[in-house]
Amino acid sequence: ARVVVLVSGTGSLMRALLEATKDPDYPVRVVAVGADREGVEGLTHAENEGVPTFAHRLGDYASREEWDGALAESCAAYEPDLVVSAGFMKLVGERFLARFSGRYLNSHPALLPSFPGMHGVRDALDYGVRVTGCTLFVVDAGVDTGPILAQRAVEVRSDDDEHGLHERIKAVERRLLVETLQDLARHGWTVRGRKVSIGVTTN
Ligand code: GRF
Repeated sequence: ARVVVLVSGTGSLMRALLEATKDPDYPVRVVAVGADREGVEGLTHAENEGVPTFAHRLGDYASREEWDGALAESCAAYEPDLVVSAGFMKLVGERFLARFSGRYLNSHPALLPSFPGMHGVRDALDYGVRVTGCTLFVVDAGVDTGPILAQRAVEVRSDDDEHGLHERIKAVERRLLVETLQDLARHGWTVRGRKVSIGVTTN
């Protein structure tokens, strides 16, 4: 499967996926990496690995819709089977979802529907849950509300702070992303009863 990954920061999830794709038997290829601004670590890493990159800064556009359209165009140029948000900190709009609805996945560092939004790790910690985790889901028009594809639990430790817990979640999240994308590429998936399948990369 051809995958475009969207990042905003360090891109550690994207790096883990890139590593996995070095195995010729892994049925996913990262065909491009995009970001919401130039110069983020994730883009630099992708460039060093010879992966095409693009960036669209919201402030460079007259409207959010135009930014959204430009982002969709850049993704579409690589003819992806899937677009994966791996730490992409912007909400896409209707134009993007019109093109990639059902094929745009996001990884969230909490067990949705608990603790959606920008501070899922902090909110779980502040709430005092004993178990949190990560969720891979299909993005819909809401915020972290789309159909869930896969989840994995992570214990919360009494001495955890937000950073420490998030790093532990990210270690699990990387494996969840790599393993789930492998299954999706090989077997397709069912979203709320609807079979969705994507092309498998012919090696
Ligand atoms: C991940 O925990 C992701 O779920 C959240 O931001 C983090 C991205 O980390 N949205 P990185 O940029 O991939 O290191």
